[in-house]
Amino acid sequence: MDVVIEGKMRIRGEVTPPPDKSISHRSVMIGAIAEGTTEIMRFLFADDCLRTVDCFRKMGIEIEFMGHDTVIVKGKGLRGLRKPEGELYAGNSGTTMRLLLGILAGQDFEAVLSGDESLSRRPMGRVVEPLRMMGARIEGRDGGKFAPLTIKGGCLKGIYYELPVASAQVKSALLLAGLYAEGETVILERQRTRDHTEIMLKEFGAEISLEDGLLRVTSVDKLYARRIVVPGDISSAAFFMVAAAISENSELLVKDVGLNPTRTGIIDVLREMGCSISVEGEKIKNGEKVGNILVRGGGLRGTVIDGKIVPRLIDEIPAIAVACAFAEGQSIIKDAGELRVKESDRIKSIAWNLKRLGAEVEELEDGLLITGGRQLKPCDLESFGDHRIAMAMAVAALSVPGRSRIRNAECVNISFPGFFDTLKNISEPI
Ligand code: S3P
Repeated sequence: MDVVIEGKMRIRGEVTPPPDKSISHRSVMIGAIAEGTTEIMRFLFADDCLRTVDCFRKMGIEIEFMGHDTVIVKGKGLRGLRKPEGELYAGNSGTTMRLLLGILAGQDFEAVLSGDESLSRRPMGRVVEPLRMMGARIEGRDGGKFAPLTIKGGCLKGIYYELPVASAQVKSALLLAGLYAEGETVILERQRTRDHTEIMLKEFGAEISLEDGLLRVTSVDKLYARRIVVPGDISSAAFFMVAAAISENSELLVKDVGLNPTRTGIIDVLREMGCSISVEGEKIKNGEKVGNILVRGGGLRGTVIDGKIVPRLIDEIPAIAVACAFAEGQSIIKDAGELRVKESDRIKSIAWNLKRLGAEVEELEDGLLITGGRQLKPCDLESFGDHRIAMAMAVAALSVPGRSRIRNAECVNISFPGFFDTLKNISEPI
């Protein structure tokens, strides 16, 4: 599906972003291995999270959909999953595959995990290696570096492990496996990544501590079902925040969005770029910070993004790169080599599209050099099958006078069905 975007628009109004993808995945997974019924309100009904639902249904977990946004998971306890018939298919979802490997490492049955073409190219060795050290038997393509993977778990032992890459998915897989291991599992994370797994596991009764950068988890007899309200996804809100930030006289209120500090790097960066952005009505729900963000557009200048902030905005870089192309002066994004192994090689996908629009962009090994301020021209843009690239380029096209096209835009359904309608609702011609 191709989508036509008419520029030039500004953004006015308010938006409630779709529910958080990371938290939606985790609520089904942790609900499935808890005792009792977990009710998930504001679950993200998007392709990625539905793959997680399918996988757990295949392992005998009853999962019901109620109304338009509620999911009921009838947990069967830590040892209640059953051997699936056939493969567990994770589709495009790295979170499904990597976190599920952690849970399967604790089960004494064999299972096969597969994914689509993009997921089959993404590195799995980073999860497979430490899970093998814990005692799981895992085989797969190229010695277990890539899916499809066959895993046979059981008899795990806790390990001490320093994460070689800043990855919440790897950390989460080890925490989940640690629930089944004899002894303590200790994880050293040098760069903090999103901590939704830690927060949710604690809410469900797991014993997890964080001290001096060391995360410790031990096995428990039981996890206890909870009622969860999923906050809005700041990674989805990011596209609208940037759309507002790059156009004069825009004003956008983003409501009920997750503000977990491990995810709010985009707020810091937009502020640093000169955007007027404020946070209001903060409160804590299910251990997660939630609130509203008000963005007023115009007057952006270039910035440098590197080091510890990178994991706090890794999924927002496609949107932030668009902001850089509309800012005065040069921006540098570095220490972001992880972008090369996302749903597409995002460094390449961003550079390719921004160049087509007429921006001055240079690809770095681990990031991008973008010189903003050029007048961009409408054109055909390509999603590369990557949801966040499709949405970021739609936002760029909105601020360019004339008619652009986003090719293969259906991939927005991975995380944000209805994205184009929402964008239209808050856009008005300048
Ligand atoms: C996620 C972690 C991040 C992020 C992804 C979701 C998660 O991936 O990019 O979209 O839910 O844990 P990595 O763990 O590969 O950094």
